[in-house]
Amino acid sequence: MTSPDLPAELKAALDAKLRGFSRNDAAGRAASISKTYRDGGGSGAIRSEADALAYALARMPATYAAVTASLNALVEIRPDLAPTSLLDVGAGPGTATWAAAETFPSLQRFTLLDANDALRALALGLVTDSFRLRDVSYERGEARAALAKADTADLVVASYMIGEIGDAEQRALAELMWAKTRDTLLVIEPGTPAGYARIIALRERLIALGAHVAAPCPHDGKCPLQPPDWCHFTQRLQRSRAHKQVKGAELPFEDEKFAYVALTRARIEKRPARVLAQPEVTKAAVVTKLCTIDGLVFATVPRRDKAAYHRARKQRWGETSETGTRETN
Ligand SMILES: C[S@@+](CC[C@H](N)C(=O)[O-])C[C@H]1O[C@@H](n2cnc3c(N)ncnc32)[C@H](O)[C@@H]1O
Repeated sequence: MTSPDLPAELKAALDAKLRGFSRNDAAGRAASISKTYRDGGGSGAIRSEADALAYALARMPATYAAVTASLNALVEIRPDLAPTSLLDVGAGPGTATWAAAETFPSLQRFTLLDANDALRALALGLVTDSFRLRDVSYERGEARAALAKADTADLVVASYMIGEIGDAEQRALAELMWAKTRDTLLVIEPGTPAGYARIIALRERLIALGAHVAAPCPHDGKCPLQPPDWCHFTQRLQRSRAHKQVKGAELPFEDEKFAYVALTRARIEKRPARVLAQPEVTKAAVVTKLCTIDGLVFATVPRRDKAAYHRARKQRWGETSETGTRETN
């Protein structure tokens, strides 16, 4: 499993960039960029090198953690997956590229696309000392136009990106990303109802075009969750000193909530149930909310069933579960 914390090489590259920058200034910029996001704006507020660095310090650890958690879930279902090429759409500072490089030693060709000059420049600055990533190709441009020109790749990733474009544009982009995917497309969004809704819309559209869900769902059918419920996960990550300073935070960790889907061209044979919330543990029983091939199940394991109770207690939100797992032949 890939660690959710930034790799040492990336941390060192960010620290080196931070030298000479005021942390107070970075904190002010990060707060203003976050406010723009909360108010429904996008990365257009990131215009300068200082903005890009402030964004990366404040958000890259969390988006990196969400991408690695999603990649870990994908690898569990597709342990044979060994992509050699990656396309990172809306790559920003290169977060998903770093996460994919950590997860897949097989990756050799990295192509990143983004419309934002400041984030592109930062991403290229961060990889200069990386043996694996220093030769990445980073195309500057609007995603659809840049994708249309890009080669297909084994693994295509769009991390925290599709929410920045309109609905009609998202549909077209989803189809184009799928057309460029040789094996797996991974899309990650914030773990909000709106982020989940975008994931579900893209999932449905691409299943209709022949995609299979590798993770998180154990099926290619309709999502069994009903509003106000929504499918999302959480990943804990450690905060560095600089991260805490830029966020004005005290706690040494944060929990990033995210929604994701990994869609693959390969048929998935093992369909393990997915734990959809932290199990509820009482003295009498453990109740685990599961998405299974047969729909939503609340599995209750009574305490008297000692071994199963102990196993159920150890389950974590986001993991697969043997309960409700099926082989599809
Ligand atoms: C929130 S950032 C996420 C960056 C990175 N993927 C990550 O996970 O940290 C969204 C990125 O999508 C890019 N983006 C948004 N709309 C785009 C478009 N139409 N074409 C190209 N890039 C776009 C932005 O420039 C920005 O870098």
